[in-house]
Amino acid sequence: MSNLVIVGAQWGDEGKGKIIDILSKDADYVVRYQGGNNAGHTVVVGKEEIILHLIPSGVLHKNKVCIIGNGVVIDPEALLAEVSYLKAKKINVNNSLRISDSAHVIFPYHKILDKLREEKFRKTKIGTTGRGIGPCYTDKLSRGGIRIADLLNKRIFKEKLEANIEEKNAIFTKVYNYKRYSFKDIYAQYLKYAKKIKPYVCNCSVVLNEAISKRKNILFEGAQGTLLDVDHGTYPFVTSSNSTAGGACVGSGIGPTKIDKVIGIVKAYTTRVGEGPLPTEFSADLLKKIRHIGKEFGATTGRPRRCGWFDAVVVKHAVAINGINTIAVTKLDVLDTMPILKICIGYKYKGKIYENFPADIEALWKAKPIYEECKGWMKDTTKAKKYSDLPNNARKYLKRISNLVGAKIQIVSVGSDRNQTLFV
Ligand code: GDP
Ligand code: IMO
Ligand code: MG
Repeated sequence: MSNLVIVGAQWGDEGKGKIIDILSKDADYVVRYQGGNNAGHTVVVGKEEIILHLIPSGVLHKNKVCIIGNGVVIDPEALLAEVSYLKAKKINVNNSLRISDSAHVIFPYHKILDKLREEKFRKTKIGTTGRGIGPCYTDKLSRGGIRIADLLNKRIFKEKLEANIEEKNAIFTKVYNYKRYSFKDIYAQYLKYAKKIKPYVCNCSVVLNEAISKRKNILFEGAQGTLLDVDHGTYPFVTSSNSTAGGACVGSGIGPTKIDKVIGIVKAYTTRVGEGPLPTEFSADLLKKIRHIGKEFGATTGRPRRCGWFDAVVVKHAVAINGINTIAVTKLDVLDTMPILKICIGYKYKGKIYENFPADIEALWKAKPIYEECKGWMKDTTKAKKYSDLPNNARKYLKRISNLVGAKIQIVSVGSDRNQTLFV
């Protein structure tokens, strides 16, 4: 038995979907523990590309139990659309999908509020995915939120929704000069969703603790990345949940003593979508090149991703915060045509050298990265079948990254396909 947490070690989109798909072959249960359909996890199987937003990436293997944990925020419309999307691809989730009764529900007013906030307060805009994630987690923490269990209890649901609509309508009309919501319409619509969702609902903690007692293997699937974690990321340019490994316990109802291992997913360079500091961001020419080769466009919103050099300060921070045991380095092949590679080993700001990730957002905005250079390998790595097939300079680059961040490399990925994966 082994229970494994997989986390993004940068700003999301590290290639978690691909690695989770591969490692979930050995898992009995695959569990999402935070975030919502802001996530976009891509799995490529043969010629087919499958993008998952809410349903765990383990769903592509037969006989896995796929759980959406209590720490996730669920938009029922998006969930049901994903179930249909998978069905159209001949993947039936009826027997595999479970949803925690304690997960919070995203309502239309969350999605609108997310967008209105971004439009009205442009100066402090986060560049969210517009999926209502922040407003839904805000309601959860302010204790006004509506959970799946509430949705399934008509009387409680009515009471809670009435209170929410009253409050939200006051905000919409007085702050945003926006239309009012009709309680009746949302109530009727969500009762229909409740009926469809009910067969999947479970007590996630009970299911997982039973699985643990039967010595089953559980894989916890993190969404977003460490630098988007609400506590440990580039606050306020973060998402509204704990995407780090600690979130796996809180967001699924198991204890920390049940986690055996944490694997960090690390892109061989750096990307981020949305606003916020990115100290190693490329200049325009290099950005264009890497974005094109790496196909760096958001899997959820299609927005172009910002790209930069590998930042060892960021990943070292992620190794510490998550207790990462080993890392999987993805998209190494994207660097195949780079004659010189830079690795950021520290930041300089106001005469001070930062070797650890600073919380001061101004320092992050203005920090000058300190780089060391490595020679590129200028060879195609996409056909490598084992680690020793990689060019010498590629192995040197990987070794340097591993030493700087303080974690051993377990997997190297050299393409989006399942078989472009090297186990070290
Ligand atoms: P996630 O959110 O962490 O699951 O990552 P995304 O799916 O949003 O983005 C990663 C993208 O890179 C997807 O399009 C993957 O198919 C692709 N990908 C994953 N690993 C590799 C790799 O090693 N090389 C290349 N070229 N693409 C990869
Ligand atoms: P995966 O799981 C990359 C970013 C958004 C924005 C910030 C807040 O595919 O790695 P939100 O909608 O969550 O309130 O937006 O977080 N963001 C992601 N960036 N990958 C993701 O997920 C992301 N999910 C949210 O772009 O900057
Ligand atoms: Mg993604």
